[in-house]
Amino acid sequence: MERTHIGNLREFIGQRVKIQGFLQTLRDQKKMQFLILRDTTGLVQVANYRPNNPEMADTISSLGAESALTIIGTVVENAIVKLNGIEIQMEELVVNNAADPQLPFDPFGETLPAIDFRLDWRFLDLRRAENLLLFQVQTTMEMAMREFWVKNGFIEIQSPKLMGTPSESGAELFEVDYFGGKAYLAQSPQFYKQMAMAAGFDRVFEIGPVFRADPSFTSRHMTEFTGIDMEMSWIDSHEDVMAFQERWLAYTFQQVKDKHGDAIKEKFGTEITVPTVPFPRITMAEAYAILKAEGYQLPPEKKGDIDPGGERILGKYVKQKYNHDFVFVTDWPIAVRPFYHMRHEDNPNLTKSFDLLATGLEITTGAQREHRYDVLAKQAQEKGLHLEPIQFYMDYFRFGCPPHGGFGLGLSRLLMVLLGVNNIRETVFLFRGPNRLTP
Ligand code: 4AD
Ligand code: MG
Repeated sequence: MERTHIGNLREFIGQRVKIQGFLQTLRDQKKMQFLILRDTTGLVQVANYRPNNPEMADTISSLGAESALTIIGTVVENAIVKLNGIEIQMEELVVNNAADPQLPFDPFGETLPAIDFRLDWRFLDLRRAENLLLFQVQTTMEMAMREFWVKNGFIEIQSPKLMGTPSESGAELFEVDYFGGKAYLAQSPQFYKQMAMAAGFDRVFEIGPVFRADPSFTSRHMTEFTGIDMEMSWIDSHEDVMAFQERWLAYTFQQVKDKHGDAIKEKFGTEITVPTVPFPRITMAEAYAILKAEGYQLPPEKKGDIDPGGERILGKYVKQKYNHDFVFVTDWPIAVRPFYHMRHEDNPNLTKSFDLLATGLEITTGAQREHRYDVLAKQAQEKGLHLEPIQFYMDYFRFGCPPHGGFGLGLSRLLMVLLGVNNIRETVFLFRGPNRLTP
């Protein structure tokens, strides 16, 4: 017998069906037993009249909440039933996996334990409807992104995560033993997406793992995360990259809103706003002035980089002034940017780069890249890099390489912004941080 999903049961009134899912609650009464069964499409009430099936009734009484069950029964209309006005009259039961009577915590309880405890039992935590929705939204999001890219001539790549040299800088680098030698975990697909430009692919994207040996304990940092990266050739400046990104994001938000807008409102209390294009843009010089006017001091050790407090202020400023959740902050000083960012012709202290802030959180860094060998070599040496270990990368710029640029975006950070969730541990399938390598 084929499985019927709970969400489709209305089409099967009067028929025998097989449903499969988790026992969310059991009301065990003298004559009647009511089981609420849950699958990915919803909840349904199943009723068993004890005298009909005394043996099955005993089995049901022994079931722990969250047991995995297969149930065969007849779908009947019953106006009294709160769940959709339908009920299944139980005929057969298979206990596929009985749950221990004592759950580590009740995923459907009124109050939830702290996040760290829930992460220990992430598979139970993920059974909550909002978490199921979160990953359905993520799926829609990635699909929309891919769709937009493919329509615009992008090619998907998968680049290696084991490398012989650091891909961003010597900081935040994981070293692994590699047959007695050293290898590094990729901090981004940066070098390889640029290689695709040198390969003449014109436009590429990658969705893949990124590793950062960042020891910080914040609500936005992980030591492993999913990076969404793209790179495009034949651009005139970083403006072309921003112009692409804002349309791509607006499309993605629209798809999510169309498909999940109501459910997101119900489960997260968040109204999805599809951002209007173009997004506001402010230069770093303007950003510094805004922060100064607000009396906000950036920590000196940041060397002019904007810290989370500064990002929040800029987010508020842009919301007030432009009624927009997004802002591109452009033209960052070279001191806080990597060697491969192109510099302005008329101001060699500034890079043709940008960060995208969303509701005051950095979700993207991007730039036009330096594609002229001599200039790139000079910039690398200025930053104290030795050319020899990155010669394979430098070679991309010796045999014809178009002007190009791109960006990297953190998948779980985008979900935080989209759903209005304030801890990245809640928006990633499994969190990895300095103190967490399990489950
Ligand atoms: O800003 P990042 O470090 O930029 C790069 O990796 C460049 N190669 C991008 C480029 O093409 N120029 O990382 C990109 C994004 C950040 O804006 C942030 O959303 C996310 O990746 N990110 C993190 N997410 C979670 N945990 C961390 N530790 C993250 N570090 C960066
Ligand atoms: Mg960044």
